Parts: sequence; structure tokens; C-alpha cells
Amino acid sequence: MLAGRPGRSGRMPGFMKVCKPPANWVFLPLMDAKKAPPSVVLGVAGGIACYKSVELVRLLVQHGFAVRVVMTREAAEFVTPLTFQTLSGRPVATEIFSLTQESEIGHINLADQADVFVIAPATANLIGKIAGGIADDLLTTVVMATQAPVLLAPSMNVHMYENPILQENIRKLRRVGYHVMEPADGYLACGYEGKGRLPEPEQIVEEIRRLLKKKDLAGEKLLITAGPNHEPLDPVRYLGSRSSGKMGYALAQVGLRRGAEVTLVSGPTTLPLPQGAKVVRVGTAAEMRAAVLKEFPQATVVLMAAAVADYRPERIAPHKLKKTETTIHLTLKPNADILKELGAKKNGRMLIGFAAETEELVANAKKKLREKNLDIIVANNVAEEGSGFERDTNIATLLDRTGSVQPLPLMTKEELADRIYDLLLSLKNTKERSAV
Ligand code: PMT
Repeated sequence: MLAGRPGRSGRMPGFMKVCKPPANWVFLPLMDAKKAPPSVVLGVAGGIACYKSVELVRLLVQHGFAVRVVMTREAAEFVTPLTFQTLSGRPVATEIFSLTQESEIGHINLADQADVFVIAPATANLIGKIAGGIADDLLTTVVMATQAPVLLAPSMNVHMYENPILQENIRKLRRVGYHVMEPADGYLACGYEGKGRLPEPEQIVEEIRRLLKKKDLAGEKLLITAGPNHEPLDPVRYLGSRSSGKMGYALAQVGLRRGAEVTLVSGPTTLPLPQGAKVVRVGTAAEMRAAVLKEFPQATVVLMAAAVADYRPERIAPHKLKKTETTIHLTLKPNADILKELGAKKNGRMLIGFAAETEELVANAKKKLREKNLDIIVANNVAEEGSGFERDTNIATLLDRTGSVQPLPLMTKEELADRIYDLLLSLKNTKERSAV
């Protein structure tokens, strides 16, 4: 049966109106607002991890995707179609031989509508059927008919996952172009510990975003720095800055989505690591410099978003400094300017710096662009509301070596990363054209 079918007007029945997303949801701008939202068809197979697919739908809708859910009969034993329909705002398809569903949704229509086809959870049975070319229910039929990229997020008992037949099926699917995520390790609903947990919904969303992106940075090796430095004063205290690492991590995430190889040299942060990046963790500016110089020869592009500490205490006390009633005077020594050092030996690489300013934004940024021999500098006024440290958003002006100055409005750090890469590619193309 088609749960909560649209009424004659094409609008959803009454309960949909009450189930509007909560007012405090932040809708994250995904792509060009004028374009139709990308469409994800989510196949849900019958496993206990179905409850996580509910959260996946919520996240996808929050990120601006149009979500259509196809469930197997077994999945409907775990979670009702009504739950998915309420969250996706669209009718849920479950039956291939239902006349109403076929006329209102249509299995080929579903297959064609998908920009990405995701199956989460993908059970051993479902993986086996797809690998064997079996299409005996709605989900397997639609996945067989789709031309969209297919992403499978497996979830099952650890011994089922390790079974050589299942592993052979996964290899076969990968060979023919299906994308199969690795399940997570941990406690499984069947009582075992091991590999078999459905990847977290946030990771699945990230995979979907990667599949949707044009791979226009393929072949680039990005070396990105992020976060603050901690310059120790004694064994318990340090000098640091307010940098959270969000800007550098956004550059890494978006670079990976666009097909680049990414090495991320990260100062201390609590952010989740971008999947697929090589991450080198550092503390002080000297450690950051050593890591950057080691990775530099392999890089084609360097993006320095880190708030590198300009100074460090001249002396690090071997024991915790005792509290006294007297004033303490600190002597600070300058750290090396990493970016300037790279600018002097860039040898065809593209160098992108950031300028954290509180006054004379463009003039100061131009000076840094010139003095550090950069191709692009991203100037952000860190005193401005919505811009700079710790936030998910930034307000930046992009300046490049041709003299162009491009002020940008408030946007998320991921959107800014996209704008920086767009400018990088256009500069590279101009360089290549003029070399012909
Ligand atoms: O991490 P978030 O909370 O997301 O905040 C983001 C940010 C505000 C830190 C980021 O957008 C930013 O502006 N990063 C650069 C901060 C900075 O150090 O700016 P600067 O103007 O002092 O330095 C200019 C450039 O030289 C930067 O690319 C910096 O990485 C580099 N530099 C600076 C000093 C030094 N000793 N070595 C360097 O390589």
C-alpha cells in the first residue's frame, strides 16, 4: 500500500503539514539555489540499522536533497514507511505489483529520477541479489534500472561480513562500478563486536556529496594547513589562537569531493577527520613547518589556512610555573614564516595564503600576496560578524596575482572553499593557455 499518498491536489495529506521540519533546523545551502535540488533515491533493506536510515533521511533533507525512499518488505518490518514519508515529504515506494504505486511513482521513473542511488542498510541478502543480477522486488528492480551512481552502505553481523561469498559479491560490484562503503567497527546489534555497523549517516551524506561533485581537481595534490598552533609555556600551559581548523578542514573536504588527493597538516582541533585525507597532526609552528616542508615536494597546490603562531615563548619552563603575586614578563621569539619560505621556492606550484585582518583588509592582503609570492590570497576580516575564527561561515575577498579583487558575500566555509578552487582552476587554465 502507498502510505500517505498525495491528495488530488498533489499536496501531501494533513499530517505532512504538522510534520514540517522544526524551526531551529539550519538548511545548509547545498548547491546553486536556482537549480533543482539533487535527487537521492534511498533504498532501505531489512536490517536493524534501518533506524539509522531515518536519521540519514533527516540529514539529507536538511542538506537540501530531494529524497525518495524505496523499502523492501523486510525493511517495513523494522520501520514503517510512514516514518520515512514524514521525514522525506514524499511518498514511499514498497511494492512493485501495486497498481497505485506503479501509476503514481513508477519504478523506471524512480530509477531515472536519481542523481545518486543509495542503499542503506545494504544487507548481505540484498548485496547478493544485486551482484547476481536478481530483480525480484521493487528495490532490486529499480537499482537494476538506474543509470545513476549507486552507493551501498553495508550493515550486518561481523561473520556475515567476513564470509568469502559476501566479499566476492562486494568485489564484483566494485568491479562493475558500484560504490561500496566500508562498514564501521564496533558493537553490533546481534551482540558481537566487529566490522559490520552501518557507517554513520554523516559519512554517508559525505560520500553522496562526493559522488555528485565534478572531479575537476583530479590529479591535483593539495597540501592544506589548518587550525592553530600551541606554543608551550610550561608542561600545562600554551600560547594559542582562536582558530578552530574549520576553514582548513572545509578546504580538505571539498578538495576530496572534487577528486584531489589531500594531505592535511592540522594543528590541535577537535574536528572529525576528513575521510580519505592523509592527516599529519602537529602542535607548534616549528612542527607545522617541518611537516609542510616534508610534504611540499609532492604537492601541486598549497593552501595555508592555519593561523600559524608568529611567536613562541623564548623559554619553556620544565615545571609548572608557580602562582606568585608578582607580574610575569614573557619574552617571545619570532617563528619562521612558512608561507614566505615556500613562496621563495614554489617552482610551478600554486600557493594560496589567507590573510586574517582586522583593518585595511585589501591593502594588507595585497602586501602579503606580493611579499610571499602567492597566486591567491583569501582575505578575511576576522573582526566582522559571521567571518573568521570558529564559525561555520566566512566573509572573504579573493585577490590573485593578476590583480583581480573579488569581494564575496557571507557563505559557509565549504562554499568559500569551492570558490577558492574555482579561482585556482581558472588561473591554472589561463596559465596553460598562455603557455601554448
Ligand atoms: O580555523 P578557523 O576557526 O576556521 O578560522 C579560519 C581562519 C580565520 C584562521 C582562516 O580563515 C585564516 O585567516 N587563516 C590565516 C590566519 C593567519 O595566520 O593569517 P596571517 O595574515 O597572520 O598570515 C598570512 C598567511 O601566512 C597565512 O596563510 C598563514 O597561514 C601564513 N603564515 C603566517 C605566519 C607564519 N609564521 N607562517 C605562515 O605561513
